[in-house]
Amino acid sequence: MDNFTFYNPTKLIFGKGQLEELKNEVPQYGKKVLLVYGGGSIKRNGLYDSVMDTLKEMGAEVSELSGVEPNPRLSTVQKGVKICKEEGIEFLLAVGGGSVIDCTKAIAAGAKYDGDAWDLVTKKAFASEALPLGTVLTLAATGSEMNAGSVITNWETNEKYGWGSPVTFPKFSILDPVNTFSVPKNQTIYGIVDMMSHVFEHYFHLTENTEFQDRMCESLLLTVMETAPKLLDDLENYEYRATILYAGTMALNGILNMGYRGDWATHNIEHAVSAVYDIPHGGGLAILFPNWMKHNLKVKPERFKKMAVRVFGVNPEGRTDEEAGLEGIEKLREFWNSIGAPSRLADYDIDDSKLDLMADKAMANGEFGNFAKMNKDDVVEIYRMSL
Ligand code: NZQ
Ligand code: ZN
Repeated sequence: MDNFTFYNPTKLIFGKGQLEELKNEVPQYGKKVLLVYGGGSIKRNGLYDSVMDTLKEMGAEVSELSGVEPNPRLSTVQKGVKICKEEGIEFLLAVGGGSVIDCTKAIAAGAKYDGDAWDLVTKKAFASEALPLGTVLTLAATGSEMNAGSVITNWETNEKYGWGSPVTFPKFSILDPVNTFSVPKNQTIYGIVDMMSHVFEHYFHLTENTEFQDRMCESLLLTVMETAPKLLDDLENYEYRATILYAGTMALNGILNMGYRGDWATHNIEHAVSAVYDIPHGGGLAILFPNWMKHNLKVKPERFKKMAVRVFGVNPEGRTDEEAGLEGIEKLREFWNSIGAPSRLADYDIDDSKLDLMADKAMANGEFGNFAKMNKDDVVEIYRMSL
């Protein structure tokens, strides 16, 4: 196990009716609130009205930024920063999925920075200050509600990058499973794929003696795989939504990955696809991850075998680690197919015409991946396997 420091200051407020806690949380940070949300789902399911009523009851002065895109764009971040600066916003409240939360983090830091927020995303400048932000999560997927990360797309240059700083952790996040009842089936599937992919990014590492961490990762995967089909048949089931919501947060809040460094190449490879084709993040991961696994099976076959045996019930008797590992990867593909996730780039009408461009985007910061270093040839090969 490697040395580590664990830091996560986000207060997690979970369960039915917890929206009321806004009244205790928001006043700690100020009266002038910027409410940030997406394309209208919170208006359709009534959450917008509940949030507004609660904010008004506490006497908050509310400004709004709506229309945050899935794969949130720099132009929207810039709009938000302008509002914050012009109106003297003291606190930001993100109500939505990962895109709304990521955008809000960038606005929060951009509001305290003199240059363009893109400098923070590209790490030309470090965000050492940010306005405080809180979240009301509406979609189980990214873990953004309890981490400092943010992923922003510059649509003009087709670049999509992750960044973050200790100042961009939400102060609090309210997770009421009821607020995820209206998430449509396809977005529910993408979210399930995304949280499982976060665990795979952790799981493939080169550090020895991570037995407890491995078991936690496996437990999350097993629980999500057991719950996902039931949830997809019963989208308004509170208990299934609660399990998936909690799992999504735990998958990327730092708790599973203490004491080793996960790989994270597949996320980079996927972000390059989303940057060029604007596809849903979870959809892209479902297509790419099994192919990343196959491409890197030989790096440490015993790791793939461990996952295959413990998570996918593969019988290792009389097989090499590589054979057992490969069967595990195939079972992962079967599982994702069974819940209706995409499996080929062609599912999004993506052909081979821009593979080179996507690979260049993925290579923007040089070779990457902690389990296996990916160069441009590797990336192109994984895209080709995914066509
Ligand atoms: O925009 P609205 O109208 O709200 O609709 C959204 C959007 O169309 C809809 N939705 C959300 N909650 C809903 C709902 N529809 C009905 N009922 C609800 N309760 O779902 C659609 C997708 O929302 P989005 O926020 O884009 O999804 P997700 O949470 O999967 O976020 C994806 C973004 O997060 C980034 C991804 O790259 C992508 O840009 N990621 C962020 C991470 C982080 N900050 O830690 C890590 C992840 O790996 C990921 O890269
Ligand atoms: Zn992800």
